[in-house]
Amino acid sequence: MRVNTKLVSWDEIVDWSIHLADIIKKDGFKPDLIVAVARGGFVPARLLCDFLGIDNMLSIQSQHWTEAAKMEERAIIKFPYYIDAKNLKILVVDDIVDTGDTLKLAKIYIEENWKPLSVKTAALQWISPVAKFKPDYYYIEVKEWIWFQYPWTRLEDTYQFIKRMMMETFKETGKREWTYEEILRGFHEWYGIDVGEAYYKRAMEILVEKEIVEFDPDRKIYKLRVT
Ligand code: ADE
Repeated sequence: MRVNTKLVSWDEIVDWSIHLADIIKKDGFKPDLIVAVARGGFVPARLLCDFLGIDNMLSIQSQHWTEAAKMEERAIIKFPYYIDAKNLKILVVDDIVDTGDTLKLAKIYIEENWKPLSVKTAALQWISPVAKFKPDYYYIEVKEWIWFQYPWTRLEDTYQFIKRMMMETFKETGKREWTYEEILRGFHEWYGIDVGEAYYKRAMEILVEKEIVEFDPDRKIYKLRVT
């Protein structure tokens, strides 16, 4: 296995979100507004609204990880905006705290620009050995870095993982041509997970559309384009 990956199911997300909501409730924190950090925090934030009984939710895009398991240098607030939050207690929610930069930046941005009563942070998972920032609330402490394949990034991750596998294999061995079956087998060997037919098929369509691979319909071969 080349990248330590764990497939996360929708059921696990619901279960983790319920537990996270319980932790927040037990602490006595009742936010007036939940802010989802786009894009990863959307589903957990929406579920927390449900389990904590909160009507007010909006989102801000704080981005660091633009590609699966590949980090940009700096986190940025993509579309900065202002709301009057002076009477609000805010809970900022993301899926995972990895380096911690994304959630930390969202928190600082909100504190400095929206000036709310208070801001707390929550994430389903916190990778404690690498994170420079610890959220106020989390459900799972991850002790060893893993790429979590969340249900909402399944396709994006799949095509990026396949692309990486094909490019690195080419660099190491010169291999450019792959059958569909070889890609599936390779994916499983490299990442140790199986995402299912619907995702592999669409991932290959995307790689063809993006002109990263070409498909030869006669030989049923995917060929990595090399420039
Ligand atoms: N986003 C940032 N870090 C991540 C990780 N380790 N797994 C899944 N998504 C992430």
